Amino acid sequence: MEIRGAVAFVAGGGGGFGAATSRRLHAAGAKVLVADLDEDKGRAVVEELGEGAAFARTDVTDEASIQAALDQATELGPLRIAVVAHGGPGGQRTLDKSNAPAPQASFTRVLDIFLASTYNIDRLAAAAIARSEPLEHGERGVIINTASIAAFDGTIGQAGYSAAKGGIVAMTLPLARDLAPAGIRVVTIAPGTFLTPAFRNADPEQLDAYWGAAVPFPKRMGRAAEYAQLAQQIAENVYLNGETIRLDGALRFTPKGA
Ligand SMILES: NC(=O)c1ccc[n+]([C@@H]2O[C@H](COP(=O)([O-])OP(=O)(O)OC[C@H]3O[C@@H](n4cnc5c(N)ncnc54)[C@H](O)[C@@H]3O)[C@@H](O)[C@H]2O)c1
Repeated sequence: MEIRGAVAFVAGGGGGFGAATSRRLHAAGAKVLVADLDEDKGRAVVEELGEGAAFARTDVTDEASIQAALDQATELGPLRIAVVAHGGPGGQRTLDKSNAPAPQASFTRVLDIFLASTYNIDRLAAAAIARSEPLEHGERGVIINTASIAAFDGTIGQAGYSAAKGGIVAMTLPLARDLAPAGIRVVTIAPGTFLTPAFRNADPEQLDAYWGAAVPFPKRMGRAAEYAQLAQQIAENVYLNGETIRLDGALRFTPKGA
């Protein structure tokens, strides 16, 4: 797809992956709607990008909020790219140290924020993209979801997170099949460990050394710009569809991660 002239909707656009992808797509000529719950972070990205970027305070767990942000995106021009890269809560061990079970609510909350919200954005974004004129090959647009390598080799404490991310991987093909008649592709990125603000309150150099040591090559954490690079490549390559791409330097998690 030709990115120039397209509108991109980026859920979690103020975060590590979201901001980097907003920057990259904007530099490639897209108009970008940065949708994020955090107004300061989202507005900072939009101010940095300047013309052709707009912010919508969005809660991805609220359907009306997603729809309002999508409506704002389509006012910028034809929506063709939706990137789903919002964050959410961490998980917890199924039994704690005294063998008490984790609350069921923490599991369903993780599923709700990561999996159900991704589907909610996907279906609403698909309806908006379907209203854009078809391009070459009959293509109207692409949806890029964010899973994690925890979908395949989840660590201790990641039952809920792995289930949610595994769900995103599992729905990639049926979504691509559902949306094919509208000329909309669906591709999922499954990142390894990336140096983003998701790792709060930790020294970046120490993080990079700790997590990077477990990565076969290159021996460091990933950079958000590398996620954004893949997002652009997915948008540009019309033959990529219905697949999950690991972006992890060949990292495989051990039970404790690294
Ligand atoms: N960083 C990593 O190593 C890594 C690895 C694998 C997968 N991921 C996944 O990538 C995604 C983004 O990760 P990141 O590292 O960029 O995180 P991040 O914390 O840097 O950014 C997440 C953004 O989402 C926003 N957000 C949180 N809740 C929201 C809500 N309810 N509605 C709208 N916006 C909300 C936050 O304000 C933040 O700006 C997450 O799904 C994460 O699970 C990250």
